[in-house]
Amino acid sequence: MMDLDLTSKTDHVPVLIGPIIENISPVTGVWVDATFGAGGYTRALLDAGAEFVFAIDRDPNVFSLAKEWLHHYPDRIEFVNDVFSNLEKYVDDVNGVVFDLGVSSMQLDQATRGFSFLKEGPLDMRMSQTGPTAADLVNSASEKMLSNILYFFGEERASRRIAKAIVARRDQEPFGTTTDLAKIIESVLPRSKPGQSHPATRSFQALRIAVNKEYEELFNGLFSAEKVLSADGCLVVVTFHSIEDRIVKRFIQARSGKLYSTSRYLPDTDALPIQFSKVTQKAIKPSTSEISINTRARSAKLRIAKRTNIKPGKNLTLEELSVPIVGKN
Ligand SMILES: C[S@@+](CC[C@H](N)C(=O)[O-])C[C@H]1O[C@@H](n2cnc3c(N)ncnc32)[C@H](O)[C@@H]1O
Repeated sequence: MMDLDLTSKTDHVPVLIGPIIENISPVTGVWVDATFGAGGYTRALLDAGAEFVFAIDRDPNVFSLAKEWLHHYPDRIEFVNDVFSNLEKYVDDVNGVVFDLGVSSMQLDQATRGFSFLKEGPLDMRMSQTGPTAADLVNSASEKMLSNILYFFGEERASRRIAKAIVARRDQEPFGTTTDLAKIIESVLPRSKPGQSHPATRSFQALRIAVNKEYEELFNGLFSAEKVLSADGCLVVVTFHSIEDRIVKRFIQARSGKLYSTSRYLPDTDALPIQFSKVTQKAIKPSTSEISINTRARSAKLRIAKRTNIKPGKNLTLEELSVPIVGKN
């Protein structure tokens, strides 16, 4: 069992919760919190009027942190330790599904989880604590594969240079820790100027996305949500970087019959059935006052759509929505 750093347990501040509740009110019925974390959204949904919440998280450690406040909501929460792409296994006909993507502050703050380049820890990054770690990935993937991961998942322009340096170093000694990897990345990039992010930020994000297969999860999770939402049910998604937001935006466009795409794989826009109607026309961003108290909110974007009564469509692929896919080698 992973050591919990209890000092960090209350550090996670829910992002964009005000605009979420405002746009989905009145909140009624059964909801799914697909990314439970510290439970900020679950509590806000219950406080706003939801009768019951299925609280999903792939990280087995998060649920014990809810002990302190769980008694305020007797018989109104069920915990599910699984990935949200499996949500059809647990629920049906729900009034809403919320996704608050990425990692929580608790995960980032625990050095032993290996998400942070600022804290020395094992190069792990697995939210579910199963499967290959980030160390397995950087110590075994081909240079081309690493470069693609850094470029497509981290939008890192120096992806080739960093991949080359990783391979040269691991040939001498395999990577074991976060700071070990961060140092190599820093050594081949210019120093960041004041106000710029740390040179390893994009690479760590990219590796985390690859280790946890975050794009496939999001993509499949959206199609699962479509299947379990009842007519008028709300899909609520908060993303933290541009490719994630693009997946959500294109999914909602495709399912609301207004797809702007050059994809040759999709049928004509006129022929698209309408499974969702947009509640938010554009992505909602946090206010400057929210960002000033919670820097994690800085890059957040919120999109909300409402389910129609048209039956779920066939699942599309990432390729069909023109989202980059990293190949095998
Ligand atoms: C940003 S935090 C959510 C914080 C939460 N909204 C709150 O207010 O406390 C994201 C959580 O989602 C979980 N998570 C990320 N991807 C997941 C997936 N594919 N399936 C299930 N849980 C996931 C992470 O383990 C993490 O605990």
